[in-house]
Amino acid sequence: MSDSALNPRTITLAWTGASGAPYGLRLLQQLIAAEYRVNLLISSAARVVLATEHGLKLSGNPEKAKAQLVAHLECDSALLEVCGKDDWFSPVASGSAAPKQMVICPCSMGTVASVAHGLSDNLLQRAADVVQKERGQLIMVVRETPFSTQHLANMHALSQRGVTIMPAAPGFYHQPQSIDDLVDFMVARILDHLKIEQVLVPRWGYDQRSS
Ligand SMILES: Cc1cc2nc3c(=O)[nH]c(=O)nc-3n(C[C@H](O)[C@H](O)[C@H](O)COP(=O)(O)O)c2cc1C
Repeated sequence: MSDSALNPRTITLAWTGASGAPYGLRLLQQLIAAEYRVNLLISSAARVVLATEHGLKLSGNPEKAKAQLVAHLECDSALLEVCGKDDWFSPVASGSAAPKQMVICPCSMGTVASVAHGLSDNLLQRAADVVQKERGQLIMVVRETPFSTQHLANMHALSQRGVTIMPAAPGFYHQPQSIDDLVDFMVARILDHLKIEQVLVPRWGYDQRSS
C-alpha cells in the first residue's frame, strides 16, 4: 500500500486489548464495504480478547492474520493491510504517508495512557502520535468501568488535544433486539464521525418515532 497519504479513502484502524472485539470487527467490515483501504494494527492483548470474545484466534504473523480476516469477513483482500507492531517502514509510521484518519476500537486504558503520553513505543502508538502531529482525526473508542482518576486525566488530556474520546456505551433508544444491534449503534456513531455514509441504525427524529 504505497499511496496512503494521497488516497483520502485510506484509514488506520487499531484494535487493542479492551473488551469489545465485535465493535472492531464490525467496523473493519463496514470500512472495507465502503471501499476504504484499511491499515490494521492489532496489539497482542487484542488478539487475546478477540479469541476470548469471538473465538477467532488470529496469528501474530501479519500476513497470516490478514488471510484469516479476509476469510472470516469475506472481504476484498486488496483493501486490507495488517501491519506488524515493529513494521517501522509502514506508511502509518510517517507523517509523509500516514492516513489522516485513525480509529482505535476497542481502546484499552493502557493504550489511552501510552497515547496520552506520546510514548510511540510500538507501531500502533506511533501511528496515533503521527495522526496527532499531522493534525488529523483520531477517535479512541475507550472501554473500562469504572474509570480511575488516572484514566479520566489521560482522556481529558487527549480530548484537549482534539482527540475524540468515544466511550463504547451504546444507547437503547433504538430498541435493540440483539447484540448485533448494540454493536451497530456504536459502529454507526463512529462512521458518522468519520463522515462515512451508513444506514446501520435509524436516525433520531428522521426514521424513528416513539410509540
Ligand atoms: C478478555 C480481556 C478483557 C479486557 N478488557 C479490558 C477493558 O475493557 N479495558 C481495559 O482497559 N483493559 C482491558 N483488558 C486489559 C488489557 O488487555 C491490558 O491492560 C493490556 O495490557 C492492554 O494492552 P494494549 O493496550 O497494548 O492492547 C482486558 C484483557 C483481557 C484479556
